Amino acid sequence: MRLTVFSATALLVISVLETVRGFETIVGQYGKTIEVPCNIENAKLEDIFLTKWKYTNADRSTGDLLKARGQNVTITADVEYLGRVSLTENLSLRIAQAKLSDQRMYTCMVVIGTDIFEYPVQVTILKTPSGPMIANQAKEMEIGKLTLLGECSTKDANPAAKVVWLKNNISLESDEKVIKITTTVQTDKTTGLASTSSTLEYAAVKGDLNAKFVCAVQHKSLTSDLLSTPVEFIINYPTEKVSLQVISADPIKEGDNVTLKCKADGNPPPSSYSFHIKGKKVKVENSDSYTLTSVTRANTGEYKCSLVDNDAMAASVNITVMYLDITSIANGKVVKQLDESFEPTLVVNASGKPQVSWSKNNARWKSPLKFDKLKYSDSGVYECVVSMAGLVRKASFELIVQGAPVINKLTKRRSNNGNFKVLSCEAEGSPKPTVQWSINGTNATETPYVEGRVTHRITIIPTVNLTVNCTVSNELGQASKSLDVSTLFEEVTVDKQAEDSADQTRVAVGVVIGVILAAVAIGLIYWIYMKRTRQGTWKTGEKEDGTQEESKKLEENQSQKAEV
Ligand SMILES: *[C@@H]1O[C@H](CO)[C@@H](O)[C@H](O)[C@H]1NC(C)=O
Ligand SMILES: *[C@@H]1O[C@H](CO)[C@@H](O)[C@H](O)[C@H]1NC(C)=O
Ligand SMILES: *[C@@H]1O[C@H](CO)[C@@H](O)[C@H](O)[C@H]1NC(C)=O
Ligand SMILES: *[C@@H]1O[C@H](CO)[C@@H](O)[C@H](O)[C@H]1NC(C)=O
Repeated sequence: MRLTVFSATALLVISVLETVRGFETIVGQYGKTIEVPCNIENAKLEDIFLTKWKYTNADRSTGDLLKARGQNVTITADVEYLGRVSLTENLSLRIAQAKLSDQRMYTCMVVIGTDIFEYPVQVTILKTPSGPMIANQAKEMEIGKLTLLGECSTKDANPAAKVVWLKNNISLESDEKVIKITTTVQTDKTTGLASTSSTLEYAAVKGDLNAKFVCAVQHKSLTSDLLSTPVEFIINYPTEKVSLQVISADPIKEGDNVTLKCKADGNPPPSSYSFHIKGKKVKVENSDSYTLTSVTRANTGEYKCSLVDNDAMAASVNITVMYLDITSIANGKVVKQLDESFEPTLVVNASGKPQVSWSKNNARWKSPLKFDKLKYSDSGVYECVVSMAGLVRKASFELIVQGAPVINKLTKRRSNNGNFKVLSCEAEGSPKPTVQWSINGTNATETPYVEGRVTHRITIIPTVNLTVNCTVSNELGQASKSLDVSTLFEEVTVDKQAEDSADQTRVAVGVVIGVILAAVAIGLIYWIYMKRTRQGTWKTGEKEDGTQEESKKLEENQSQKAEV
């Protein structure tokens, strides 16, 4: 804005209005030096004839600060600015140790030639508040009762700092019922700085148990709020509900440890509890737990816990202890006779339905175990595993099937080269039968004794026809069988003679059949002949039979022929 010294008064008024509209504002820090610029824009310093700084109060009254003609600076300030103002080389006004009263309009007047230029600048002073301090902190709160939680204060700010209360980082708004916030601002008479104080009265709820209450100071000089340390207090409320927790394996079985944990929802929680164990009341101090070690089925039942001073405030729980007992009647060694029936008895006493599985000689076996007719192969070690709810019981026995020995087979066989004979006697029985021969043989061998069976073999070279006995025996009895063995040396001839006699028999039979056939043929011819000769005589009623003579002749004829 440009103005001539000689312009009219009306113009001056307009120019002042213009400057008011366009002034710059600078912010200074309290107690620091403020530099108020003289914005001479494009004007050159050497062209400036006179520079003058003045201030303007809110009521438009003014005061001089300093003026300069070239290097010659004259301080014209009053006592308020005495010793605090100076001019920089580029004509800025420096105010040291800024006070709140320095907040006003400063105008730089510059005379260049015949023109006067005015540059007004508004100065404001900021003072950062002190950090929040909390006084009168609550130590205990009662549910639903409006209680002073704390008084937060911050000092020496300009402008006055704002104090807010935060609960879990969310600001609280006063509603005069459960939240009541009262804020007061006090200004220091000498410095003019403001102190803000805020009291929070609060009606706590159970959910506030771990809530964080913080006081925050907000100020335009700060980029982030100043936070107090959280207010810590205890919320007291009585127990309304007791709960009882069972800490154990699931399901609970005999031998397990079971811990009962009692909880009350009051605050502070009780330090001791009463446990009602099988009709007995046990007080546990400085703990909320009671442990039953190595429970048995006798521990099944209802358990209760309550407040020490109020049995009615209680919780109960039912505990069922699973158990499994087995008794096997079959035990150790079980000796049974062949062909007997057998079903081992297993008595199971359990709290639930157990699973039973059988194995024989460590291999899975069918269940239930039952034999209608025992065989030697049924002998073995039987084990049963009974399980339920993680409980496992086992029982085992060895079954031995016994029987007097029998001889299944007694055989002879000529060796491939025909030099000797191998006799074989297969015995079945248990305990293992011993095999005895009535003859001394060589190369005696025996197969392994499996499933009650054993085969014994000997080699002999019979020089004469023999009857050989095989005798098998065990402690339960014995059996014997015999076998004819013909001599090796005469056997060939013996066989030939047998063949010859067979041939003779065959020839004799052939001759007889031939004679019979011939006789039949002759008889047939004779019959046909007779029939023809007699055909005419049938009607005469003559006897059909031939004469006695004829019959006789025929018989003779036939018998003669048979004798041929
Ligand atoms: C005056 O000079 C100082 C540095 O010497 C500078 O920071 C400031 O901006 C200048 N003021 C003006 C109005 O040019
Ligand atoms: C425990 O069992 C008893 C008898 O069966 C029953 O009366 C009671 O209500 C049960 N208690 C709980 C907590 O289930
Ligand atoms: C078998 O041999 C023994 C001697 O080695 C003998 O005493 C016994 O009589 C013989 N038995 C038969 C049946 O030949
Ligand atoms: C041996 O037995 C056969 C019949 O099997 C008989 O023909 C033979 O004569 C017998 N030999 C001796 C030496 O007894």
